[in-house]
Amino acid sequence: MNRLHRARVDAEKSGEVLDLVDTHFGRAGLHLPETIVERAFRQWRGEPDYNASALGRLGTRRAIADWYGRHKINVEAEGVLLTAGSTLSYHLLFATLPGDRPPALPKPAYPLFEEIATLNRIQPVWYALDPGENWRIDRASVERAIRRGAGCVVLVTPNNPCGTAVDADDLRWVCGVAAAAGIPVVSDEVFATFTNGLVSTPEAPGRAPSALACGSSLGTDVFVVDGLSKSAAAPEVKLGWIATNNAHGTLWRSIEFAHDAYLSTSAFAEHVGSVLLRHGLEHLRSVAVAVAARRRAFLRGAAQIEALKLYPPAAGIHAVFAIERNRAAEAFGSADDEEIAIELVRRERLFLHPGYLYGIDMEDPHFVVSYLGREETTRDGLNRLGAALARRST
Ligand SMILES: Cc1ncc(COP(=O)(O)O)c(C=O)c1O
Repeated sequence: MNRLHRARVDAEKSGEVLDLVDTHFGRAGLHLPETIVERAFRQWRGEPDYNASALGRLGTRRAIADWYGRHKINVEAEGVLLTAGSTLSYHLLFATLPGDRPPALPKPAYPLFEEIATLNRIQPVWYALDPGENWRIDRASVERAIRRGAGCVVLVTPNNPCGTAVDADDLRWVCGVAAAAGIPVVSDEVFATFTNGLVSTPEAPGRAPSALACGSSLGTDVFVVDGLSKSAAAPEVKLGWIATNNAHGTLWRSIEFAHDAYLSTSAFAEHVGSVLLRHGLEHLRSVAVAVAARRRAFLRGAAQIEALKLYPPAAGIHAVFAIERNRAAEAFGSADDEEIAIELVRRERLFLHPGYLYGIDMEDPHFVVSYLGREETTRDGLNRLGAALARRST
């Protein structure tokens, strides 16, 4: 347990602490509708024969391929492999992608990716997202990572924690340099339906540009990591998938072969997936609409706190902000992100993440929050932050 978590546990002994980086969909009031669960249950019991296969149930893979088709992304059912969640998808990819070459991961990044690489005894190489350009990909750093022997380039779009989606131009560029280096692109698109300004139809949400769309035209093998945990607010179902534009390549065969050892998906989860993607698009849309409303409310609230230097999020469920270091020192007696986070837990009973956990190491202290929670929770959290910043340290 690190110092921040110890401070939180101590503070919780005398009452509740407001968690402004809580990404629990259920606590945020977003749930999979019972009608979908019941329909999936009936469908599952009506199809009692379980045929274990490394790719997973064909009907579900077809539903996923059709879901991509709706967004004009061409994926065959043979190019979809079902897993028990994105964490396992990453594990399969890191364990099978070109030999022992490291993945190139973005920085800042959700710490999970490095953990999975480490579990696979792989030391990742990093490329940078540029804070001066609202965390756009720093192209020179991608080229350096490739020269250092990266075995694949990992995109996280929309990004956790930066709250940005990679635009079509950068997607094409990354696919192009990866193709030239003969390495694949892994694109984590678990937050794709949580993006500002998308055209959604009455029955389905839109999605951020996918690397699958440009990989094929450039001859790049693309492996998209996606699933139901975020888009359907259904982490408990544990259904993820990897989708590729090259279902006939050797990489795909080795991923399939590796998953044959696990056969990780449950038949019930597979049925939830097909029912949801065939009959539950309105639910996906309503989750995306709720997240967009919470993002707007967060932006309005954060704009009231003059000392926050916010990188306005346009996608995902996270946001990054900084506090100018002199101002931080005045309010908290320190300009260190971890010290400030500990002070916030102790003084304001407010929990958020210091930026260093995501690899953010800059002059001004940076922090990561999520606005997935109910609007009143986010408002309360921002009020506590504003009050702390208005106070001088004693
Ligand atoms: C960007 C990103 N990818 C993947 C995951 C893991 O998702 P899953 O619940 O499908 O394992 C997370 C979890 O928060 C995430 O933020």
